[in-house]
Amino acid sequence: MPLALPSRIGNEFAGVVDEVGDGVTAFAVGDAVLGFEEMACCADQVVLDVDHVVAKPAAMPWAEAGVLSASGQTAHTAIEQLRVGADDTVLVHAAAGGVGSFAVQIARARGAKVIGTASARNHEYLDSLGAIPIAYGGGLEARVRAAAPAGVTAVLDCIGGEALDVSVRLVDDRQRIGTVTDRVNGQRLGVQVIGTDRSAARLADLVALHEMGKLRVSIYEQLSFAEAAQAHRTVETGHVRGKVVLSND
Ligand SMILES: NC(=O)c1ccc[n+]([C@@H]2O[C@H](COP(=O)([O-])OP(=O)(O)OC[C@H]3O[C@@H](n4cnc5c(N)ncnc54)[C@H](OP(=O)(O)O)[C@@H]3O)[C@@H](O)[C@H]2O)c1
Repeated sequence: MPLALPSRIGNEFAGVVDEVGDGVTAFAVGDAVLGFEEMACCADQVVLDVDHVVAKPAAMPWAEAGVLSASGQTAHTAIEQLRVGADDTVLVHAAAGGVGSFAVQIARARGAKVIGTASARNHEYLDSLGAIPIAYGGGLEARVRAAAPAGVTAVLDCIGGEALDVSVRLVDDRQRIGTVTDRVNGQRLGVQVIGTDRSAARLADLVALHEMGKLRVSIYEQLSFAEAAQAHRTVETGHVRGKVVLSND
């Protein structure tokens, strides 16, 4: 994404409405909301269109509300575009990360069986989300076949590279394989390269799943805005479980 520096960053937020524009009736000053706006949300205040906002349920913790939209909408878009349903066995690569954690749960909510890759320290976590955990790395294809003797029917890749080469050996229909991260290999292999189709309706669906207890938001670390650089270093390790939260509390 080309940016003129200095630039704001952050694509998701939760907060309280301070002001509404003329003609806005859906929200009022003081309402608790969550929403999305590209490269705007790591801030004390954000100005955005009313159709980028949904109501925050009182029971939803602020930290969870603040990190629901970005990875959540990507995962939701991907599971929809891969047409995942109750008859599917879905393989999610990097299932313990931000996008992966949401994707596992959304696929489970649609009734699919889910196999997720992660290192051993995240296997209990994946199990708690409803996925069958397996290790990534050498021998992955054999481990997937052992976990899904009847075969895998769809794949969501959140890591790229070798994971995509393994995926095309497991699933014949390349339209049922999607990557949210590796455009180059995705195009080389003819699988779906999936972007995020963000909308208030999609975000509201995620909120509804959360309210039904079908979507957990795992907070790996919560830091203040003053610690933003540390938050980015944590994310750059590539080993976050769930999400990192920045807060001005
Ligand atoms: N297209 C879009 O709209 C969109 C939107 C959001 C994100 N993305 C992209 O999607 C990708 C995933 O984002 P994210 O936020 O979910 O990432 P993330 O949270 O940083 O992913 C971290 C996870 O990756 C796992 N991991 C690390 N190396 C792995 C490997 N070789 N195989 C399998 N898992 C591995 C880690 O598990 P262990 O600690 O157990 O190793 C960790 O749980 C990123 O490239 C991001 O840019 C795309």
